[in-house]
Amino acid sequence: MIVAIDGGAASGKSSTARALSERFNLLHSDTGSYYRALTAEMLRQGASPESVDSVKRALENIRLATRVEGRSARIEINGHLPGEEIRSPEVNAAVSHFAAIPELRASLLAYQRGQADTARGGRFAGLVMEGRDIGSVIFPDADFRFFLHADPAERERRRLKQGQVDKVAERDRLDSSRKTAPLSRSAGSVSIDTTTLTIAEVADLMASVIEGKAAVP
Ligand code: DC
Repeated sequence: MIVAIDGGAASGKSSTARALSERFNLLHSDTGSYYRALTAEMLRQGASPESVDSVKRALENIRLATRVEGRSARIEINGHLPGEEIRSPEVNAAVSHFAAIPELRASLLAYQRGQADTARGGRFAGLVMEGRDIGSVIFPDADFRFFLHADPAERERRRLKQGQVDKVAERDRLDSSRKTAPLSRSAGSVSIDTTTLTIAEVADLMASVIEGKAAVP
């Protein structure tokens, strides 16, 4: 079983994906953390989103692997698990610019699709993958595709509560307007407004859809 969850920054994807991974024993892939890890590595290597050549050069020095920790599929770059630096203000500010570069996205495409094999090869019943283009590009044939959204003010509040400085509306603008695999609701996905719902309520709603009990308009 493959579950795709897309949505803007702080729309509730990670918390609900984690809840579903526990409920249905799914491997959890947070693809935002993959883009963040690559961004941190680009910055470390001195690459700039303004120079595609510098990005291409940096990508040549990068080997990706997956480490499964619990139910979480974590990215390893050149044998290292990235740390908290991927949530830094520098990465928050740069990630959408790097994520708009087709060559950088291409470097993650097969990697992300390969997570389905990682799930199959492990002790999991499937995969829950969250991001911006999972239902539209990575797994358009996923068994379930969800699109989460929420008021920008509520999303900024969620990030502040996590102690993060993050311009969620600005990231959404960049992520929605890029040419390659923009953030968008894919046709046929189940759209959920999470503004006034708790994580448990959103996860319950999604679980009901998966179990065939509820249809969300
Ligand atoms: O989910 P997040 O906020 O941690 O994601 C960080 C950034 O990564 C997001 O602003 C855009 C990019 N991203 C993407 O372009 N495609 C994805 N599938 C996931 C994230």
